[in-house]
Amino acid sequence: MASSREIGRLSAHFAESPEVFETSPLYRALCPVVAEEPEILDLLVHRRQGQQPSYLLFGAVHYLLLSGVPHPLRRFYPSLMGASAADPADAGPALLDFCRRYQDPVTEVIRTRLVQTNVVRRVVGLRYALWVVGQHCPGPVHLVEVGASAGIHLHVDRYRYAIGEHRFGPADAPLTVDSRWRGDSPPPDLDEVPRIASRTGVDLHPVDVTDVRDRRWLRALVWPEDRDAATLLEAALDSVAADPPTVIAGDAVDVCPRLGRSLPAGEPRVVFHAATRMHVPAVRRAAFDRAIDSIGDDGPLYHVWQEPPSAPHHGLVVAREELAFHGPELEVAVPLLRADGHLRWLAPPLPR
Ligand SMILES: C[S@@+](CC[C@H](N)C(=O)[O-])C[C@H]1O[C@@H](n2cnc3c(N)ncnc32)[C@H](O)[C@@H]1O
Repeated sequence: MASSREIGRLSAHFAESPEVFETSPLYRALCPVVAEEPEILDLLVHRRQGQQPSYLLFGAVHYLLLSGVPHPLRRFYPSLMGASAADPADAGPALLDFCRRYQDPVTEVIRTRLVQTNVVRRVVGLRYALWVVGQHCPGPVHLVEVGASAGIHLHVDRYRYAIGEHRFGPADAPLTVDSRWRGDSPPPDLDEVPRIASRTGVDLHPVDVTDVRDRRWLRALVWPEDRDAATLLEAALDSVAADPPTVIAGDAVDVCPRLGRSLPAGEPRVVFHAATRMHVPAVRRAAFDRAIDSIGDDGPLYHVWQEPPSAPHHGLVVAREELAFHGPELEVAVPLLRADGHLRWLAPPLPR
């Protein structure tokens, strides 16, 4: 049972969350309902440290619905009902009933799963960063993704890209990742990227792309209205399952120093993380940053990150909707790109 202080904190979190779910009318409608229901908030006391409560609760419910659990709540999910989904404004009572009736399975998912949303389009930011790295060094480079989830971004060189009107990457790629380009001049030539010599992920809990329940969990974390992202996710998971990259299980704080030493000395390495540092408990963030920097102890390190503005590193406080870049030639980090959190659009950084 959560303390009344914890319930108060969770309630405030849900009351403030609707704006986060910009493109999900269903979750926007459900946030204020959950904020008023200590009985539901109490389920979240079982979550693991650092896990974002609203993503986790809505993910757990969506997971069970996608597993086939029968309940009238299904009627409100575009992921299950398509265009005939019912009006989200009426979904509150059904959610309450669902959480009461399926309290044990909901709690089990909350207790065991992590928020591991693998957003395929974020690979566009990495692809762009590789082009920037190519301007500094010809490569090949060793690629490391921290917080890799299923490892989708580690296949950055295997996808086709549709950036506005421009196309890059192999024409016979298993999927095309599209994003709008908001620059005044055309994007750079994203075919001009260094070769990847090795690719390694690090994750607290690597997602097994060959396991149907792990795949369903990733699918459940996609908001129910975003069928386009769900289709892209399925295609990317198929691609990764055909040739899974190594994703080392463990905390980046422990794994990165070892991993850095295992890469060939003197050879350049690119480290990418997106929506990962934000899940590291605040007291561990300095250690997380040091662990990433340690990958540069034995070779030039290019570091690229897409994290909320609360993640200053290398002297740069990134603005909202900015990706950041740091390399051996730079005193301080620089903005790499502007983009929305899910990389539906990207643009060159604004001059500072
Ligand atoms: C929200 S997901 C983002 C996944 C991926 N980076 C993306 O943008 O699509 C965050 C991932 O970071 C992992 N993670 C969180 N803290 C970590 C840590 N200290 N060390 C390694 N992985 C961590 C989680 O397990 C999860 O898979």
